[in-house]
Amino acid sequence: MSVFETSVQVFLGPVAQYLKDDSVTEIMINGPKQIFIERAGQVEMVEAKFEDEQALMAAVRNISQYVGRPISEEAPFLDARLPDGSRIHAVVPPVAKNGTTVCIRKFSKNKLELKDLISRGALTPDAARFIDVCLYLKKNIIVSGGTGSGKTTILNILASRCQPEQRIVVLEDSSELRIHNKHVVYFEGRPANEYGKGTVTLRDLVKSSLRLRPDRVIVGEVRGGEALDLISSMNTGHSGSMGTVHSNNPKECLTRLETLALMTDSEVPVQAVRAQVSSAIQVVLQLSRLQDGSRKVTHISECLGMDLQGNYQTNDIYLFEQWGRDKDGKVLGILNPTGNLPSFMREIEVNQLPFPKEMFHKKQNPPGSQNQAA
Ligand SMILES: Nc1ncnc2c1ncn2[C@@H]1O[C@H](COP(=O)(O)OP(=O)(O)OP(=O)(O)O)[C@@H](O)[C@H]1O
Ligand SMILES: [Mg+2]
Repeated sequence: MSVFETSVQVFLGPVAQYLKDDSVTEIMINGPKQIFIERAGQVEMVEAKFEDEQALMAAVRNISQYVGRPISEEAPFLDARLPDGSRIHAVVPPVAKNGTTVCIRKFSKNKLELKDLISRGALTPDAARFIDVCLYLKKNIIVSGGTGSGKTTILNILASRCQPEQRIVVLEDSSELRIHNKHVVYFEGRPANEYGKGTVTLRDLVKSSLRLRPDRVIVGEVRGGEALDLISSMNTGHSGSMGTVHSNNPKECLTRLETLALMTDSEVPVQAVRAQVSSAIQVVLQLSRLQDGSRKVTHISECLGMDLQGNYQTNDIYLFEQWGRDKDGKVLGILNPTGNLPSFMREIEVNQLPFPKEMFHKKQNPPGSQNQAA
């Protein structure tokens, strides 16, 4: 066991049992005396407590020292990975009003695969095949969703399903993706050191990636000005690029990308950014965490550019239809084709991909039938 592993076990002692427990997916520490965990999509409060704020703060400082990312009142945020790969984000007082606040997204040893998502009803086999078609045709895909909705998980799966001969360049603020493909290179940005130097932003990484001969550029989480560089790169021949964005529906996802792109200091007019977003993004995969805690694909939509008023136009190809809930509260429904054909139907046909037009016909399922995965 490494010194870092031992020290994590000691300092994070009060939550060590949850760190070890594979059924726990998230640990949320709201100051020393209140801890919640997530298991099977359900959040529950647990008895565990830290002795006091000093003990919790010591744990966070210890991790920050090991990973070489300083945390202090002046720089109160920490993004890091624990030795087992779990993602940790911490915020210290006075910004954190409850006391030091920590969220640990557990690294899952049994990485979810496409077949697991299908068996959990997150999408149907047909929708999965359509996604494969989009990947094969190198569409630029954004995975959109709320926090914890499964964006990174699905992005990881998508990237792992790309053609093995393609070179994938992965850019992240905090390294999370573990792509199962032959030719993958990873880059991680970093915050300033204690002297305020050495920052490497995702914008820097996107620019650098374009000289690294990527077949596909993947940005783990687009949440700042790198949106501008990513959409410009998508528009200048780097098709097949992907990323995740926090947003609640496909149209909002496009608006969000626009807002993020405008956060840069380069003075690109709004109309120009909007035009770039609408031509860069081709498919949005929308995820949601539903009322029963399950994570599902709720939309697979195509971005069709702008209408005459300058609004984004989207074409929903699959939509999740909820019929109700079963006696245990489980959401019943299906990710159904809407009947709309993708604008690239011809491309599907000329490439002789086994996805005929009939696959897009809406399926009529009686309300109340089981969560259909097959
Ligand atoms: N379809 C699914 N069914 C069940 N669990 C899932 C599903 N998709 C993801 N998960 C689990 O949900 C948790 C959150 O997933 P993930 O990290 O992919 O979400 P995210 O949207 O990227 O979150 P964030 O917004 O915090 O980056 C993980 O523990 C993951 O294993
Ligand atoms: Mg994520």
